[in-house]
Amino acid sequence: MSGHPAPYYKATGREIEIFMAAAAQRLPVLLKGPTGTGKSRFLEFMAHQLDRRLITIVCHEETSAVDLIGRYLIQGAETIWQDGPLTTAVKTGAIVYLDEIAEARPDTLVAIHSLTDHRRELFLDRKNESIRAHENFLLTASFNPGYQKSFKELKPSTRQRFISIEFRYPDKDVETEILHAETGLPKEQANRLVRLAAQIRMRPELGLPETVSTRLLVATAALVVKGLPPRLAAQHGMILPLTDDDDTIAALTDMAALYL
Ligand SMILES: Nc1ncnc2c1ncn2[C@@H]1O[C@H](COP(=O)(O)OP(=O)(O)OP(=O)(O)O)[C@@H](O)[C@H]1O
Ligand SMILES: [Mg+2]
Repeated sequence: MSGHPAPYYKATGREIEIFMAAAAQRLPVLLKGPTGTGKSRFLEFMAHQLDRRLITIVCHEETSAVDLIGRYLIQGAETIWQDGPLTTAVKTGAIVYLDEIAEARPDTLVAIHSLTDHRRELFLDRKNESIRAHENFLLTASFNPGYQKSFKELKPSTRQRFISIEFRYPDKDVETEILHAETGLPKEQANRLVRLAAQIRMRPELGLPETVSTRLLVATAALVVKGLPPRLAAQHGMILPLTDDDDTIAALTDMAALYL
């Protein structure tokens, strides 16, 4: 929000321009990409740019339409209606972020469909009432297509209601700059961590369910800044968070020794 400093976000492509155009046309936006690639940070940045509040809803299997929309609460002798976070956003013109949208049950997501087209309406079934979205309301969501474990997919009827922006691991120069900006680690040292990460990412035979993210690199850089030797920092900031398999740990440790 205005008054607060802008969150640091380094663009890796044309995502800012695309998001701005989508927001101007009130098109829902899906951010696709692996963990730790800047999706949440990007939205914090965009919310600040647009001077709108960001309301994040982390979706999981138990997330129900009631959690999004609202419920009646009993208070003493009275029942009072309490808006859910989606309803609040619809009324006040906030940006809603359905984080990990694929985790939510499909029937929950059907509740948002009427918000995503020309109607821009939310139906509060328990109140039998429809509310029109504020002109600044914007629906966004994230989806990690890479999760090997859950195989959760989005229904095409939900998915095709969003335009998509893809997040990938950034180029080496950009990622070096992010590490430097986030932690203050000198660029030369940051670049070694980035080159190590690039090598790990090129090795699918390591069998990692998901490879090293910018988030882990930032954490490793932060440990180095606090005085830990780079190899030790990489062990605890990059390698152990990726795997529990001893052979893989050994292979990654050898790779780290080459770069750090
Ligand atoms: N483009 C970027 N600009 C600035 N910081 C970035 C960028 N990409 C990644 N980061 C750093 O990586 C960290 C993780 O990013 P973020 O939390 O946005 O990831 P995410 O894609 O939302 O991950 P998840 O899917 O796990 O929620 C941030 O806290 C930030 O330090
Ligand atoms: Mg996130």
